[in-house]
Amino acid sequence: MARYEDADWRESMRIRYDYTHMLADVVGEHRGTTQGQLDEMAGRLTAAIDVLRLRRSPNDLAWMDLPYQKDSIAEILGYAREVEGVYDDVLVLGIGGSALGVTALKSALLPYYANYMSPDVRRHPRLWVLDNVDPGWVMAALRLLDPERTLVIVTSKSGSTTETMAQFLIARGWLQERLGESTACHIVAITDPEQGPLREIAGREGYRTFAVPPGVGGRFSVLSSVGLLPAALVGIDIEELLAGAAYGDELAQAPDLQHNLPGMAAALQHLAYHRGQRISVLMPYSQHLRDLADWWRQLWAESLGKKMSTDGRRLNVGPTPVLALGTTDQHSQIQLYVEGPPDKVISFVAVERFEEEAPLPPARPKEEGIAYLGGHSLAELINAEREATAMALAEAGRPNATYIVPEVNPFTVGQFIYLLEMQTAISGFLYSVNAYDQPGVEAGKVATYALLGRPGYEAQAIELRTTQAARPRHIV
Ligand code: PA5
Repeated sequence: MARYEDADWRESMRIRYDYTHMLADVVGEHRGTTQGQLDEMAGRLTAAIDVLRLRRSPNDLAWMDLPYQKDSIAEILGYAREVEGVYDDVLVLGIGGSALGVTALKSALLPYYANYMSPDVRRHPRLWVLDNVDPGWVMAALRLLDPERTLVIVTSKSGSTTETMAQFLIARGWLQERLGESTACHIVAITDPEQGPLREIAGREGYRTFAVPPGVGGRFSVLSSVGLLPAALVGIDIEELLAGAAYGDELAQAPDLQHNLPGMAAALQHLAYHRGQRISVLMPYSQHLRDLADWWRQLWAESLGKKMSTDGRRLNVGPTPVLALGTTDQHSQIQLYVEGPPDKVISFVAVERFEEEAPLPPARPKEEGIAYLGGHSLAELINAEREATAMALAEAGRPNATYIVPEVNPFTVGQFIYLLEMQTAISGFLYSVNAYDQPGVEAGKVATYALLGRPGYEAQAIELRTTQAARPRHIV
């Protein structure tokens, strides 16, 4: 029996949320939320949950059902078994929602420095994620790898994203130069099941493919083949990950606000936004969870930053997500958060049990200045610093909350991912925006096509060059 099948174990892995420091009686009437305001939000949570339930279907909010995709899991695990021992490296090409989730899973669930471990310790391929087109960075990665022992996974739901397809052209050429005819065996495409340039190329050239289900948008796709395939290939337990997500789903259905973690977090953030606290910081005190916060940053920004409301009003709304890391950023950002403008809500992520304690040896005689550290551990230190920072912020009237993760494992990571997705979906409802589109990204894409001479974008190219020429503002 898998451990997640045991109800007591699941309960012991439940993520909790401490919002004491969000409340008006702690941080002050103008900075915090009152019980009356929370009572008013309760009805809106019920409405949000009802709407999400209605829209939960394969053609609309299909991400909500990703924890239960038995067929895809069998296909992914089957492929992982098929290629076991064949590759030393898995190279993922993608950007935005097609990359951030993979990186988050890698950082959270592989041992630290896994790529630097010897193959017999690692026992799985190394995982690399290229989500940028900085030429030196891309080429250096290829120089590091051996085409004969590398699997390239190209991930793009649309199958046409400029950066990903440019990387694909380079990686395919790199493989072809060494492998010729057998190049196709070294490429897997994760894309729309039916349409898009990547789907066409994959069909023509005979690549193995996995589908991004049609109702699953990029930034909500980490629990689809987008995140699961690379994760399975490097030995992450994707069944436990999805069991955790299913548990998150169960928790997110609680009808009353006091027991609904994503509902409470969304409501408190929403109320804060309307008090002028428009910057939302997520600050894990765990190196493993740093990239999960980076994944959330995109989820929050692209889902909630919108010009128009769902009923056609101009809003220009959206909290600005910021990623910070404890304790590192205590020596970089906390001065601003405590004394700067009171425009932020800080959400900490606490880990109760770390994989190691790292005890601190006693200091030497004559080292009185650091003697207090002896007998403690790094695990104690990181948690004490988090608590102290939360208290200092509250003392300064700065609202903050803490997600409490019992330990970092596939179950809690899957659960956290699902809870943050639900928090985002409920927030979309509260802000009255469509959390699933990204019209603001289009203008930049069109300008790129125009500048690179894509047929059909000639008029935009002329317009861009004319406007730029008319506004020279260069320091030379
Ligand atoms: O969330 C989104 O939809 C975006 O961030 C996309 O993931 C990103 O633009 C990449 O798109 P695609 O997967 O189509 O290449």
